[in-house]
Formats: sequence, C-alpha cells, structure tokens
Amino acid sequence: MKLNDIRQEYLQAPLEIENFKGDPIRLLKLWYKNAIDSEIALLNAITLSTVGNDGYPNSRVVLAKEISDEGLIIYTDYDSQKGKELESNNKVSLVIFWKEHDRQIRIKAKSSKITKEKSDEYFRSRPIESQISATASDQSSLVDIDSLKERVLEITEKSKDLNSLPCPANWGGYFLEYTEIEFWQGRPSRLHDRFKFVKENGSWTDAKRLSP
Ligand SMILES: Cc1cc2nc3c(=O)[nH]c(=O)nc-3n(C[C@H](O)[C@H](O)[C@H](O)COP(=O)(O)O)c2cc1C
Repeated sequence: MKLNDIRQEYLQAPLEIENFKGDPIRLLKLWYKNAIDSEIALLNAITLSTVGNDGYPNSRVVLAKEISDEGLIIYTDYDSQKGKELESNNKVSLVIFWKEHDRQIRIKAKSSKITKEKSDEYFRSRPIESQISATASDQSSLVDIDSLKERVLEITEKSKDLNSLPCPANWGGYFLEYTEIEFWQGRPSRLHDRFKFVKENGSWTDAKRLSP
C-alpha cells in the first residue's frame, strides 16, 4: 500500500459561521453534540501537546471528562511526563479530529490543577480496577512489568473489601482554559472552511476565516 495513493473527498456541508459570530463555545458544543448523536467512537479523545524543557512539543492522547464554556477537564498522574511539563509551562495545544464528520478543532489553552475534592470525587467514580492500576502505576517512569503486576496484586488484595481506594496525592485533574479555538470543516476540492476565534481581555473575537 502506498500512502500517497490515499485520497479523501470531503463532502460535508459548509460551516455557516454567520450563525456563530463571536461565539465559538456554542459551535464547540454543537459539534460535540453532533459527534455524540453520531455515536463516534472515543469522541472525547483529544491530542494534548505540552512543551518540554528541551523545547520540544510532546503530544499524547487523553480523554476530556468535562467540557464547559471556559474550558475542559482531563485527568492524569501529576508526576507523569505531561504533569512535569505542565508544572513548568502551563500553555498547551489540543487537537480533536472526528473523521466521520471531516472535522478538526484546534485549541490553545492554559492549564491549572482542579481542586483535590473534585479529583477525589472523580477518582471514586471510576471502576475499582482503574483505581487500583492508577494507584499502582507511576505513570511515565521506567517499569518492569513483573513488579507492576505484583503491585497491582498487592493493592487488589488490600482493597478486596473496599468499594473504592483513596485518590493518590499525585493523581487528579487539570482544567484547560481556552484562549484560542479554530474550527476546520473538510470541504470538496480542498477548499476547506477554517475559522479561528481568539479570547482577548475575557471576550471572544469574531471568527476570522483562514486560508485552507
Ligand atoms: C484513547 C486514549 C485515551 C487516553 N486517555 C488518557 C487519559 O485520560 N489520561 C492519561 O493520563 N493518559 C491517557 N492515555 C495515555 C496517554 O496517551 C499517555 O500514554 C500517558 O498519559 C503518559 O503520557 P506522558 O508520559 O506524556 O505523561 C490515553 C491514551 C489513549 C490512546
């Protein structure tokens, strides 16, 4: 198979931006609703890029667990690679791609830790197996699989009469507050619709069309 033989014709309707003047959040919510209505698999998956001390961006997929008018929430290990990078630089870039709708959303955001209470509450809501594995794993550190499995067994044994475990101190959520949002709608003949909104002094600018 040759990658350069892959061709995709985008046949979706245009993005009617006139309906969303200065309001990227309504458009964001509408696109999420469309994705939910279409039952897109893992529609809450987001590529999150942080910047390391070496200056390289570093990207990985995470899951958005809450989305609001100001930002979205993800959960992770605060001591992971991404956690360390967010500690020294809270500016992030996010990408969402829904191939079923030929849609991409690019977001710039600023991260901050959510409250311990909120992280605890979410941690308790997860299946006990996920709680055990999050407790056992020092995310992003070198590991040998046998010691990890042993640690999982140990914690499973200790927690067998419990419904939930305490949320580890180094585990929790980040609120990613939007500062820029760009919507991309795939269109025929490569004439895609691209509109960018920027938050300035607390308000969203009108959408600016960008060349595809
Ligand atoms: C579909 C999918 C969902 C994921 N969701 C999360 C998540 O919500 N939180 C998380 O910490 N890692 C998640 N991961 C794992 C991350 O991509 C990554 O491997 C991990 O967070 C370590 O990244 P880091 O070393 O850059 O910190 C997910 C991976 C995939 C493929």
